[in-house]
Amino acid sequence: MEICRTKSAIRAQLAAWRPAPIVLVPTMGFLHEGHLSLMRLARARAGATGKVVASIFVNPTQFGPGEDFDSYPRNEARDFDLMRAEGVDAVFAPEVAEIYDPAAQTIVETTELAKTLIGKLRPGHFRGVATIVTKLFNIIRPDAAVFGEKDYQQLAVIRTMVRDLDMGIEIIGAPIQREPDGLAMSSRNVRLAPEDRTAASILSQALDEAEAMAATGITAARLRSHVRATLEAEPRARVQSVDIRDAQSLDTISGPLRRPAVILLAVKFGQVFLIDNRVVQPPKEEP
Ligand code: PAJ
Repeated sequence: MEICRTKSAIRAQLAAWRPAPIVLVPTMGFLHEGHLSLMRLARARAGATGKVVASIFVNPTQFGPGEDFDSYPRNEARDFDLMRAEGVDAVFAPEVAEIYDPAAQTIVETTELAKTLIGKLRPGHFRGVATIVTKLFNIIRPDAAVFGEKDYQQLAVIRTMVRDLDMGIEIIGAPIQREPDGLAMSSRNVRLAPEDRTAASILSQALDEAEAMAATGITAARLRSHVRATLEAEPRARVQSVDIRDAQSLDTISGPLRRPAVILLAVKFGQVFLIDNRVVQPPKEEP
């Protein structure tokens, strides 16, 4: 596995490999089984002749003031071992100064999607994500890139940006990987206090319940209140947002569910910000 620290090093490596198809998996490191599942999908998409490139970069521009950029967990040596074991061909792991020129003045923003849902809780977050992912796409010029459905709105932002700016990169969505008690895997889970770690299984429990209720013909508003009440019954949970949106467009929904919907949760335990989501189906039409 090649380890590249600079744009010129990764570009030279990729030039030597082309025209082999290149599949990219962007990460912020501190890898867990969720990330590794993305690398397996990338390996399968790349095939025998293709190359899998993963990036590790804790991107400062997607963290707000007072967020956890400094305390974000890091363990590069372990990440490299895990990537090697998944058959990753090259890792791009630059320093911040290699990526951001202090004189830079260009940003990428999905104007509407960036303002809603998590964009409200974390202003500027999706501008940081869209800009770094564009830069990674331009540095690596992959044929395809893999992103997790765990970050549902992020995946929507990236699909929208690729469409709007004619980037011509295939975006592959990967299912959410969970711990045995249902908690969605996240690099941030290690920062949960033991009692919070136990309590955090309430997110997936609330989603399981909601999925069953969606099939009964409940309205979006009632389903949302039910999910919120389930989460609020857990005293350690500080609910940041509960939303039910059209699964495709992320538009708001009123009345009964008629199309697939996504339930999006953001909950804090102590200082740790957790998200989860589930796509739920409307009741089946009567024959
Ligand atoms: P990071 O949080 O490290 O996640 C990297 C990728 O792994 C993302 O596509 C994310 O959706 C996916 N992922 C994380 N947890 C997952 C889980 N439990 N199951 C499936 N996939 C999971 O997301 C980012 O980094 C950054 O915003 C990035 C896209 C790299 C831009 O900086």
